[in-house]
Amino acid sequence: MIDFPLMHNNILREDVDALVNFLKTSDRFTQGGKVQEFEKTWSGWLGTKYTLFVNSGSSANYITAHVLAELYGKGEVIVAPIGWSSTIAAVINAGHTPVFADVNLKNLSLDDDAVLSKITPKTKAVFLTHVLGFDGLTDKLLETLKAKNILLLEDCCESHGATHNGKKIGTFGKASNFSFYYAHHMSTIEGGVVCTDDEEFYQYARMFRSHGMIRECNEEYRTKLQSPDTYPEFTFHVAGFNMRSTELNAVIGLNQIKRLDENNDKRKHNFDLYLKNLDGEKYFVDFDTVGSVNYALILIVKNSDKKLYEKVVNVLNEEKVEFRRGTAGGGNLARQRFIKNVFPEINPQTLKNAEYIHEFGLYVGNYPDLDEYKILNLCKVLNAL
Ligand SMILES: Cc1ncc(COP(=O)(O)O)c(C=O)c1O
Repeated sequence: MIDFPLMHNNILREDVDALVNFLKTSDRFTQGGKVQEFEKTWSGWLGTKYTLFVNSGSSANYITAHVLAELYGKGEVIVAPIGWSSTIAAVINAGHTPVFADVNLKNLSLDDDAVLSKITPKTKAVFLTHVLGFDGLTDKLLETLKAKNILLLEDCCESHGATHNGKKIGTFGKASNFSFYYAHHMSTIEGGVVCTDDEEFYQYARMFRSHGMIRECNEEYRTKLQSPDTYPEFTFHVAGFNMRSTELNAVIGLNQIKRLDENNDKRKHNFDLYLKNLDGEKYFVDFDTVGSVNYALILIVKNSDKKLYEKVVNVLNEEKVEFRRGTAGGGNLARQRFIKNVFPEINPQTLKNAEYIHEFGLYVGNYPDLDEYKILNLCKVLNAL
C-alpha cells in the first residue's frame, strides 16, 4: 500500500508551541500587532509594498474584485476555467462579467493567445490564476496588457514562491492574492493576503476588509474621504465586509514563513523526481516547470484514454493515495451551475484544454516530507497500467 494524503504535517508542533506561548502571554486576539508584523514579513518575502492579511484566499479574491469595481468601474474580467470557484464568484459578486479564456496544457494556466482573443473595449482586467504551483505568466501577455492598459490581477493561491523570469509571481499585477488554507504551500489554518504596490488600491482594500470604514485608512485618505454627514469614527465609505483575521492566525503565519523557501525546494525536488520517473508515453510529463513550485503531483492521461484514466482512479483508491479529479476546483469551472445559471451563453465545451483536464486530469499530494520511495512506487504502479 503506497498510502499518502493530499497534505501532511503542514502545521507543526513548533507552530502550536508558538501559538500556545502567545495565548499565555496576551489577552487580545483580534487583529492587531501580530497581524501587522505578519503583513510586513510577507511583504518582505514577496517583494511588494503592501500586504493585507485576511481570513481566507477567497476573501482576498473578494476584496480584489470589489476594489477593482470601486476604483476602475465594472466591466469584463477575463478568468480561467481551471483554478478555484472564488476567483470567478468574486468577479461576479462584485458586478463584473466573467469572460472565460482557455488554459494551455504546459502550465494549466491561462493561455496568452486565448486571453488576447477575448479582449474587448469592455475588458477591465485579467484575473490570472497560477495553477497548482506553475508560473502562468508570459512576457507577451504582460507586454500586451500593459500596452492596452488592462489590469492584471494575480491569483497566486496555489503558487507561493513560483517565479517568472526569476521574479516572484504576485509582484507583476496591480494586486495579487494568496491563500494559507491547510492544503497550500504554507498555512495559517485559514487565511489569505491581498498584495499590491499601489497605495490607493491598498487603502481601499483596508476599507473593504473592515466594514468599509475610512478609519482603516491612513490620514491622507481619512481626510480625503470624510463625509460631512457622518462621524469620522463611523464613516462607511464603501459597502465593505468583515474579512479580518486574528492574531492567532498571524502568529502561526510568522512561524510558517520561516520554513516556506526550504519546503518549496523539497516540493520542487519531489515534482522533478515524479516527472522523471513517470511514463511520458501514457501521461503528460512535459510541463513548463521553470520557476514553478508545485504542491501537487499532476497526472494527466494522454491520448484521451478513458480506460487508462479509470484504471488510474481505481489504483489510487486501492493504494490509498488521496487525489482530486480535474485538478483543484474540480476541472472546468465553466461547467458549474453557478456560472450556467447566470451566464447560460457560456459554453464550457469551447474551452478545449480545460475540458481535457476535466476529463483526463487529477492530482495527488506533494508535501515536503513525502517519502521519495512513495513517489517512485507511485510512478511504478502508474506506469504498469
Ligand atoms: C486558485 C485559488 N484561488 C482561491 C482559493 C481560495 O482560497 P481559500 O481556500 O483560502 O478561501 C483557492 C483555494 O484553495 C485556490 O486554489
